[in-house]
Amino acid sequence: MSIAFSATAQKRVEKLLGHYPDKEAALLQVLHIARAEFKTITPEVMEYIAGLLGLSPLQVMDVVSFYTLYPRQEEGRYVIQVCATLSCALLGAESLVDHLEEKLGIKVGGTTPDKKFTLKKVECLGSCGTAPVMQINDDYYENLTVEKIDDILAKLP
Ligand code: FES
Repeated sequence: MSIAFSATAQKRVEKLLGHYPDKEAALLQVLHIARAEFKTITPEVMEYIAGLLGLSPLQVMDVVSFYTLYPRQEEGRYVIQVCATLSCALLGAESLVDHLEEKLGIKVGGTTPDKKFTLKKVECLGSCGTAPVMQINDDYYENLTVEKIDDILAKLP
């Protein structure tokens, strides 16, 4: 199956490229559009974007693998990102991750069979003063405890 942007996304990309003399500079924004369009940045999507921007697939892959923002595998409806950096680690992030793994029946990096949850460990989420912290999709949850996590997950539709 060959990959291609919809007409709407294609127009957005063309407009974007008009703002950059160097197409490579538009890569992150094109990846945002690709994420919205394809959900997952597969090798085919990387190759497609590389072709659009005149880059090598490896250049695109380097950027995609650097940012956790661009999923390379299908993810759940809720992507749980638990901060595992110093402040959060010192305040028990690892035991929260253990709890989530047990509760969801998956390991870090995994997705539940019903595709509801994906669990990730990430670097500092920039809210160290309210550690431990996790992000679910676009929302932050702070000063976490096991009980708070159970409550948060129970309220997700
Ligand atoms: S160390 Fe966890 S938010 Fe900064």
